[in-house]
Amino acid sequence: MTRRVIVPLLALSLLTTILAVDKNNFKTCEQSSFCRRLRKYEQNKSPYYLDLSTLELDNNGFSASLKNSELEAANLKLTLTAIAGNIFKVTVDEVQGLHPRYKPQFSLNGEPQAAKLEILGRSSESISVKAGDAKAVITAKPLKLEFYHKEHLVSVVNGKGLFGFEHYRTKPADGEKDPQIQDDPGAWEENFKSHHDSKPKGPSAIAADFNFPGARRVYGLPEHGDRLALRTTGSGGLDPYRLYNLDVFEYEMDSTMAIYGGIPVVYAVSPEHTTGIFWHNAAETWVDINNSKDGNVVSSLVNLVSGSKTDPNVDVRFMSESGAMEFFVLTGPTPKDAVKQYASLTGVHGLPQLFALGYHQSRWNYNDQDDVTTVVAKFDQNNMPVDVMWLDIEYTDGKKYFTWDPIKFSQPENMVNNLTSTGRKLVVIIDPHIKREGGYFVHEDALNYDLYVKNKDGGVYEGWCWPGSSSYLDFYNPATMDYYKKLYSLETFKGTSHDVWIWNDMNEPSVFNGPEITMPKDVVHYGGWEHRDIHNEYPLSQVIGTYRGLIDRSPHRRPFILTRGHFSGTQRYAAIWTGDNDAKWSHLAASFPMCLSEALGGISFCGADVGGFFNNPDVELLQRWYQGAIWLPFFRAHAHIDTRRREPFLFPEDVMARIRNALRLRYAHLPLWYTLFWEHETQGEPVIRPLFYHYPQDDNVLDIDDTVLVGHSVLARPVTDPGESSVKVYLPGESKAIWYDLEDFRAYQGGIHTIPVTLDRHVVFYRGGSIVPRKDRPRRSATVMRNDPFTLYVALDSSKSASGTLYVDDYESFEYKNDKKYVYVHFNYENNKLTSSLIDKTDYPTKEWIERVVVLGAPKGIKGARLTSKSLGTVELETSYDSEFRSLTVRKPGVSIREPFTIELY
Ligand code: GLC
Repeated sequence: MTRRVIVPLLALSLLTTILAVDKNNFKTCEQSSFCRRLRKYEQNKSPYYLDLSTLELDNNGFSASLKNSELEAANLKLTLTAIAGNIFKVTVDEVQGLHPRYKPQFSLNGEPQAAKLEILGRSSESISVKAGDAKAVITAKPLKLEFYHKEHLVSVVNGKGLFGFEHYRTKPADGEKDPQIQDDPGAWEENFKSHHDSKPKGPSAIAADFNFPGARRVYGLPEHGDRLALRTTGSGGLDPYRLYNLDVFEYEMDSTMAIYGGIPVVYAVSPEHTTGIFWHNAAETWVDINNSKDGNVVSSLVNLVSGSKTDPNVDVRFMSESGAMEFFVLTGPTPKDAVKQYASLTGVHGLPQLFALGYHQSRWNYNDQDDVTTVVAKFDQNNMPVDVMWLDIEYTDGKKYFTWDPIKFSQPENMVNNLTSTGRKLVVIIDPHIKREGGYFVHEDALNYDLYVKNKDGGVYEGWCWPGSSSYLDFYNPATMDYYKKLYSLETFKGTSHDVWIWNDMNEPSVFNGPEITMPKDVVHYGGWEHRDIHNEYPLSQVIGTYRGLIDRSPHRRPFILTRGHFSGTQRYAAIWTGDNDAKWSHLAASFPMCLSEALGGISFCGADVGGFFNNPDVELLQRWYQGAIWLPFFRAHAHIDTRRREPFLFPEDVMARIRNALRLRYAHLPLWYTLFWEHETQGEPVIRPLFYHYPQDDNVLDIDDTVLVGHSVLARPVTDPGESSVKVYLPGESKAIWYDLEDFRAYQGGIHTIPVTLDRHVVFYRGGSIVPRKDRPRRSATVMRNDPFTLYVALDSSKSASGTLYVDDYESFEYKNDKKYVYVHFNYENNKLTSSLIDKTDYPTKEWIERVVVLGAPKGIKGARLTSKSLGTVELETSYDSEFRSLTVRKPGVSIREPFTIELY
């Protein structure tokens, strides 16, 4: 039995008392041979040099042999390639090494587009090159790579001399020394607890150090239960940030421990410049951070000698266990540019169907098909919107995915029809482990067609997961992909329909009896790759299979998939959530920095289990959780099987009213969310953003991660502490900025404000200068809001102007992409005149129209309004000034949003 199997059996009270991560199950850097080895490197002693006499040039880059003056056997090649959009790619690999080295195969959104490289200068000691605004100066000995944006030095690689590359080698005979491996006892085989890693190919680690001159903070490396700004590691015993997808039972906050996802991208931010590094590697990776603001021995020595203070800077060192070395330098110059550069490499979320942005109701588990129907009916009776019901593992017949429990879910078709006839959807869970049970068709097929991951001796690998003894599909095998995607067909997955979508869980992969609750590193995937090489990419391989299956099943609908494990590129296929959090205030608070970090890592479609997965939240926490979670892109309540039922309709009327208000606020903003997802897809900007994304020059925002910008128009500062009577919120943009409190439209200037809060109070602002499209009619689900009219909230800035966008389409198909069936509108307000214009020349026969315009910060003395449009001509409109809400409302423009119009206030 594993911890997983034991826990449901425990009494609830006991569960409450035992919550704490068991750190003994997971390695520290010191317990990981390669991390230990690489961390012993001494600074400024790099033996690596580039032999520029071997230089080979082409239009887009160059390569040369990279040598190690202490190790003749190391035969490496460094290649630098210019990539479109001011990006450089650097690859280091072995030349005719003993074994090939892995490069992730699913993460990139196609081959990056190479750019033309210009040689600026060249000698035997260095070479300087340029592509667009990006420049690189490579010094041969010792190896140093300096990257510039225009004339601004943005990153120095191997400036500290901590580059390392363990080429594949034959095992030294007993008594022989291997200087690079430093005789680490775990180099050739390694034990952790009762687990043995046979390391058939021996040590193969790689590392490189990156310095960012001028940087004040560095962000990125999701997923950790930690703050947004990365902390200096090493000091105070803080382990490096670890990227190794793991199912960490009861993960902790304020921790650099690995959890479910591992995205190796960082962004170093200074007021002048933002630079990103994408370390393109899927193996276990540790990342050391050193921020000069935290002080360190080296910089204090420099201070002593020069008598001056060290300029701010940040060092980041990536260390990976295996694979080729490949990294991309994203030269910025702004946070927006760097994040978009990363998106240009790894892709974006496709626009989700509208329902997916609505509210999702889940728990482990809804007991049976009637339970599902009843829960939805109760939402309706209590006037609370919900779009999606979820079924966890208990819907299956004995944890055999693609089957139904014959008693509790005996008539899935009826259940699905009942649900979807009201416009709702169903999501069911499918994990990658397969029950090893004779007669179970997936298991038998996987054996017959050889679709499973193998152990090191070539037999089928067996591990323990929900079903007990299980084997794991090997999505690296094209035959597995082909087989797997067909499992989702309506013929095979009986009882499902075009409105049933998928949740892929436990795909880190989670193996209850494996080392660190995952797969042994020496198990083998198709192509001969060890699990060691591909580990962080495995969950992505599963969701690609699922995505393909859903596209084949329902070619005209945008798939919805939720995944727990994730890697760079996951965003092209799936949304993520932050896994098994706890019903604690600290976990509510952490959901914001965690999802903001994911958004910077390309995964905007992120949320956390509302209410907390483990334990029972008290009503205050639950209400605050709903009020906060509506400002994260993925909005789902979920709970452990041992928790008490907590659907919103189970609470007294005052609590229900608060949750209902939160749900309605979410639904009112669906047009904004949807427009932002379209802009994410087409422009690569994250849907939610930390303050520094738009205000990198403002030092005050660098450590703020309790505040979320939804696009650049809404600022939410959720209440994440119990018993609060006020919260502090920082409104960026200095004194000239205006922010309108959503509660009463009171205008605040930029700066710190203390906002009194009651339990009903949301602390949310609209940025003066933005126009927020909303649908304010309360409804039962997003689907039924499709033709509802819009209210435009025009929040004026200090020059009495504002602008915004609105995107609409059929909310479910691919016609927006294939046939340009959408309408994308730009709104502009200046000189008391609101003008709409179509951004793209497209047409889509939407029935949506404008019901109301609410102007915040409107000048007093407005007497009326006049609409002009082609089909309506000129029409006088009614206006009213609401002094309590400090807003001017223009009633019933009645104009279709397909049609350009003006509304003049006079
Ligand atoms: C994992 C998931 C959780 C789910 C449970 C049972 O712990 O993270 O959300 O409820 O498995 O499937």
